[in-house]
Amino acid sequence: MTFPTHFMWGAATASYQIEGAIHQDGRKDCIWDKLAKGHVPFDETGEIACDHYNHLEEDVALLKQIGLKAYRFSIAWPRIIPNGTGNINQKGLDFYLKLVKLLKEANIEPMVTLYHWDLPYDLFLQGGWKNENSPLWFESYVRVVVNALAPYVKYFITFNEPNCFIGISYEGAEHAPFLNEPSSLLPCTRNVLLAHGRAVHVIRELAPHAQIGYAPTGAIYTPTDNSKDAIDSARDLTFSSTRSAFSTDWWIDPVILGSFHQNALAKMGVTEVFTKDEWALVTSKIDFLGFNVYQSTGQEVAGSKYPSNRYCGSPVTAMDWTITPESIYYAVKFLQDRYHLPILITENGMANTDFLMLDGKVHDPQRIDFMHRYLLALEKAIDEGYDVIGYTYWSLMDNYEWACGYKYRFGLIYVDYQTQKRTLKDSANWYKEVIATNGQNL
Ligand code: NOJ
Repeated sequence: MTFPTHFMWGAATASYQIEGAIHQDGRKDCIWDKLAKGHVPFDETGEIACDHYNHLEEDVALLKQIGLKAYRFSIAWPRIIPNGTGNINQKGLDFYLKLVKLLKEANIEPMVTLYHWDLPYDLFLQGGWKNENSPLWFESYVRVVVNALAPYVKYFITFNEPNCFIGISYEGAEHAPFLNEPSSLLPCTRNVLLAHGRAVHVIRELAPHAQIGYAPTGAIYTPTDNSKDAIDSARDLTFSSTRSAFSTDWWIDPVILGSFHQNALAKMGVTEVFTKDEWALVTSKIDFLGFNVYQSTGQEVAGSKYPSNRYCGSPVTAMDWTITPESIYYAVKFLQDRYHLPILITENGMANTDFLMLDGKVHDPQRIDFMHRYLLALEKAIDEGYDVIGYTYWSLMDNYEWACGYKYRFGLIYVDYQTQKRTLKDSANWYKEVIATNGQNL
């Protein structure tokens, strides 16, 4: 049992969740700065977060200490083009240039996510992703970022989880901009997918060496038993837009297969979403498929009050997400069988009740066991021949968990938000060994 030799063992973060410094060096507000109030416990925002913006060297040193081979992070659009369109803020670019240079010096592969939910507030005032100009706004922003970072960066990821920043943000009002407007799904789906296509073109033009990916998530149904019928039925459920715009296929089928499931079309109230030329743009070739996977989605079981992924007392994380390692195996299997692209696990991890203990350490055996189980399930897929290029654990450090504020901790590194002191958790030291042995110790 072996992970590929150049397997990219990594960790992931997102700008808004760690950077803080929301008004430093010319950054302007994003939608979370302005709209979180009233939607998040204690009205918490990313105002200070982990103050990563002012702890850059220290944080890269910790990445190095853990022995990470890759680091996935995102760029804050409102730091680069504070109004969303127009003037470029060189100081914002300088911050990321410094980060990628430090990473290169430390032999850590930078993986840049171009959009992880911090839309400039000024663009929201113009309708955000509902505005038909949004693909052009995004293209201009991507041009600036890629132009600056291309000499140092090989891996670019267009979008993180449109399932969330559209699916549960414009319908269901769970995330900023906290709207519940099912009629927005059609324009937002169109605009985000066109923006993705435009970004792919810009990256190819400015960084011909780049590997381009995408990082959606979505419901992964797992089979109720090992029979072929059960596996096929879980696969069908995974790819039939049963969860509106949170569904897995909603955001990947168009990009790779050039189609939508009929349930998605019905939900949007149309029979077609794009013209022929628009389809050509949306399906621009990408090189790998990222996927964020945490848990399986349960199916109804006849005669049982529990869904298929739970039983009385079944294990869950602090956020009540089911501990279901088979979800990562089936995610890889279903996605690669269908889309035939190398897979990067762009997120996987758990929220735990971590705290600094009397001995000054953070012992998190639950996280170690969680990672161990999920990595074994990932290794099973690799052993069966699936092409997985890396795994970036969510998250490098505790951070702002969006609508849940700072209550839940996903990090390998514990952050004391009062003092900004960082402490490596036991899981960080355990992961270090996994990386050093390329997974042989699992
Ligand atoms: C999904 C998101 O990409 C990330 O921002 C979030 O913190 C984690 N998963 C955990 O919910």
